[in-house]
Amino acid sequence: MIKEKQIVLGITGGIAAYKVVELVRQFRKRNAEVDVIMTRNAQQFVTPLTFQTISGHPVYTDLFHSFNPEISHISLADKADVLIIAPATANIIAKIASGCADDLLSTVVLATKAPLLIAPAMNANMWENRIVQQNVGKLKELGFRIMDPTTGELACGYEGKGRLAEIEDILGETITILTEKDLQGERILITAGPTHEHIDPIRILTNRSSGKMGYALAKASHQRGAEVMLVSGPTNLKPIPDIHTIQVENTLEMSKAVSKHYKSCSIVIKAAAVADYRPKKSFKDKMKKTHKTLTLGLDKNPDILYQLGKDKGKKILVGFAAETKNLISQAKLKLDRKNLDLIVVNNALQKRGGFGSDSNEATLIDFEGKIDALPLMGKEELADKILDKIKQIKKEKSSAKELKKTSASEPKKRT
Ligand code: CTP
Repeated sequence: MIKEKQIVLGITGGIAAYKVVELVRQFRKRNAEVDVIMTRNAQQFVTPLTFQTISGHPVYTDLFHSFNPEISHISLADKADVLIIAPATANIIAKIASGCADDLLSTVVLATKAPLLIAPAMNANMWENRIVQQNVGKLKELGFRIMDPTTGELACGYEGKGRLAEIEDILGETITILTEKDLQGERILITAGPTHEHIDPIRILTNRSSGKMGYALAKASHQRGAEVMLVSGPTNLKPIPDIHTIQVENTLEMSKAVSKHYKSCSIVIKAAAVADYRPKKSFKDKMKKTHKTLTLGLDKNPDILYQLGKDKGKKILVGFAAETKNLISQAKLKLDRKNLDLIVVNNALQKRGGFGSDSNEATLIDFEGKIDALPLMGKEELADKILDKIKQIKKEKSSAKELKKTSASEPKKRT
């Protein structure tokens, strides 16, 4: 979604400058163009050569002695689709708040019409300082996007709020800024992860789902302007900023959370790998190995998606299926039985993607039986492909409805 976008990244003098190398790498991985501006102090921490190598472009350091006369502060300001300052020191924040333009970066800030994203990092006392807070407040009021620092151990030895926001979150926020809001107005309910069915306080019945696909779908839906509700089973993934997430343990809890929010949604994507059975009995204390053999009695869990399919209305319902054989026929059976619009099927035995991995090789089958076999790709990219397909299905369904309406209202020819 940020392919070929023009990012201008301003780096100011803080130790967190080294972390931003990874941010540039992530932008380049997604085929965005990155121009880096470094202040004089930033160059004390990381050399321009590092950013030149990683961005593939010379780094801009000086307002007047540009190595390329074609590139002035004005052309940098004009070409930017977004201007990011990370890490942003108290000094650059003060300069922006007072409209000061005394070097290349602060001049580009004043000259650009592109959205500005600021990720501050500094000593905790500096961050708490009332003057800094006043400047930050002023910038927020003016509509600039500030990603507050996080709390933790700081390079200066302090413990507190001052760490640069996570690179993953700055990346996510940049993608959100640059992405067309083509899903605005949609309310999307997404389930992710496995469920844990308790046997005793130590043991569970579960599966190998990591939740990465569901989280990627939630992130992409949010970036494309949808209102997202994420119902997540237990995962090791970080919560996604700005997404309403309900954490659940087991299938019964997931079913309850989904039912509660189902009515208000226009699209439901059930990426969760739900346990079909739960132990008949969940023991309060640890089970001891007193028996030679043990048979665990299981009760069937409700099929959440099947229930949703019975009361679908105008919603778009999307299911997932991980199979080990007869992928297409098995997925088609599920699509029909659960009254789905789309099913995403993948081979659970695939070597290069799938469970736990960052990539997946999936096939999309829609309600008309159309099959799209997609190549192996990152889960982020796959999430966008699934959302594109959902949009297309919505469009097709609504034009089919319009057509039906018009033909119903046309006067019938007399015979
Ligand atoms: N699903 C669900 N509730 C369940 C089981 C599955 O909502 N109790 C949903 C999953 O989230 C997924 C789809 O149904 O989107 C297909 O899940 P899958 O486990 O592949 O299929 P099952 O219907 O459970 O069939 P089987 O396990 O026999 O293959």
